[in-house]
Amino acid sequence: MINLPSLITLPFAHENTVAADDSAEDKYPESIPRMLIQRLSKKGDKVFDPFLGHGTSAFEAEALERIPYGVEADGGRYEWAAGQCEYWQNIFHADAADIPALGLPKMDLCVSSPPFMARHHKWNPLAGGDPDFSGYGTYLQMLSDIFAGVKTIMKRGSLVCVHVENVQIGKVFTPLVRDFSFCLSESFVPVGESIIKWEGRDTNEPQHSHVLIFKNSQ
Ligand SMILES: C[S@@+](CC[C@H](N)C(=O)[O-])C[C@H]1O[C@@H](n2cnc3c(N)ncnc32)[C@H](O)[C@@H]1O
Repeated sequence: MINLPSLITLPFAHENTVAADDSAEDKYPESIPRMLIQRLSKKGDKVFDPFLGHGTSAFEAEALERIPYGVEADGGRYEWAAGQCEYWQNIFHADAADIPALGLPKMDLCVSSPPFMARHHKWNPLAGGDPDFSGYGTYLQMLSDIFAGVKTIMKRGSLVCVHVENVQIGKVFTPLVRDFSFCLSESFVPVGESIIKWEGRDTNEPQHSHVLIFKNSQ
């Protein structure tokens, strides 16, 4: 197992802004990638996020003198994130399904928060809602396939950290923590899990998140 406490308290704050026409609803607090990058990598390491979103992982990687790499499917978000990175040429506007074809170097650490989906919804966020790819089963299969692709660019022995929360909508509970564990375990070995207890999050919102840690053993 890796040396990360099983319970970590972090501030729930969005320190960076997002694009004026965007919402920070699916942005994770800087405290998550900052803590993981600080603890699990060293200066000069290559840190990858296959779902870069508003750029949080890349900004934290640069602030900690690591080299950021990222992929984001949404054009506006890609421009927002790449436009603020010193290493903007390492940020790709692409589908994470195409990661093996992007010519990326081998990474030292992956830190990410994939888009979440409720199991009773049809709209698959990994496919931008394309009806040909609707449903929770397809979403999980795509997530497995994307991380199988991520594996091709990870160094041997490197760690992959995924932020995830279970989703409760009305009476329907979606066990995303369990299901992400299954998906990632198809390509990587689970080596740790930390519960993140949020400090200062709205009381209507979940008061904790999970970070699942996997190792690329081969
Ligand atoms: C939960 S958000 C990530 C937020 C990010 N951690 C941050 O703090 O800004 C997930 C992101 O994945 C992107 N995304 C969804 N499907 C994708 C795909 N197939 N390939 C690449 N990016 C995708 C979405 O556009 C969204 O920005």
